[in-house]
Amino acid sequence: MQHTVALIPGDGIGPEAAEQAVRILNATGVSIEWETVEAGHGVSLKYGGDPLPESTLAAIRRHRVALKGPLTTEVVVGRPSVNVALRKGLDLYACVRPIKTLPGVASRYTDVDMVVIRENTEDLYCGIEHLVIPGVVETLKLITEKASLRIAQYAFDLARRERRNKVTAIHKANIMKLSDGLFLECCRRVAREYPEIAYAELIVDNACMQLVRDPSRFDVLLMANLYGDIISDLGAGLVGGLGVVPGANIGEEYAVFEAVHGSAPDIAGKGIANPLAITMSGGMMLKHLGEEKAAQALDEAIQAVLKQGRTVTRDLGGTATTREMADAIMDHLAGI
Ligand code: NAI
Repeated sequence: MQHTVALIPGDGIGPEAAEQAVRILNATGVSIEWETVEAGHGVSLKYGGDPLPESTLAAIRRHRVALKGPLTTEVVVGRPSVNVALRKGLDLYACVRPIKTLPGVASRYTDVDMVVIRENTEDLYCGIEHLVIPGVVETLKLITEKASLRIAQYAFDLARRERRNKVTAIHKANIMKLSDGLFLECCRRVAREYPEIAYAELIVDNACMQLVRDPSRFDVLLMANLYGDIISDLGAGLVGGLGVVPGANIGEEYAVFEAVHGSAPDIAGKGIANPLAITMSGGMMLKHLGEEKAAQALDEAIQAVLKQGRTVTRDLGGTATTREMADAIMDHLAGI
């Protein structure tokens, strides 16, 4: 079957990593017609315009599926985040980030296998903030029953589908009694509909401590936007870093697949970025497109390259370039 996918190379290491991901995904034999579209800081610099052109949103709506590189968001100054606008604009409410120990990738733990489920459309990321008087600013945290129920439902459905045993809701409802309180209340309501799946709650600070002490006790982690953003990177640190953690933003109608990492300006343009995170996001995309066998083969090829450990990028202790690592994965795919 022929698939069509929008490709957003993005900023920083995005284009170099996305280029290799596309080569690898094409090498799985799945027939994908890619439409490359632009978004991000680079676009607004180049054309002096909108970092999220309407034509890019239209392409994603047309194909329903996109593979996306990271987009730079300036700190303090500049425009609001394009990532946030994209997720809200397409109502990609569920951010799904599997965090798993990989063979051959050095880390402090050997048995991490969890999924971070992050609500993607509200919380402090609504960007509702204003200057009250000079020296005093206010930022609103927005939590709704509707969004909390649907993300909880998503997490429990995923747990059921993937035969996972436990969902842990992460919150700060001891302090934000109303907003995180509502989130938690929704998680509890949904949990009651899934009696076969254990349900637990943890305050976010304690959750961070428990995660670094013993991540193996976690399974599905369910949380609002900000905690999900932070815990995703913490999770990446448990399994070898941002170079090896994929992700997906899923809505009722559209899905955008992207790595957890950002545009990594410190290594951009050097050809040394790890292509795995975006490639593995592409693997999640293959599953979403119903290409289970190809996704499985891709997984095997990645694991083989990691196990051998000869052709891996600098972040994993090797010396390979982005392209060389991609070539190694493609060689394995050719042999499967
Ligand atoms: P970052 O994730 O870009 O980089 C953090 C560290 O991880 C850096 O040392 C970087 O070199 C390393 N790293 C990240 N990806 C890597 C890869 N594939 N291979 C090897 N090393 C890798 O986070 P940072 O520096 O905080 O953010 C940079 C920019 O990215 C910011 O403008 C931020 O807003 C944006 N960002 C965008 C995201 C997205 O588009 N989904 C997600 C996170 C950040």
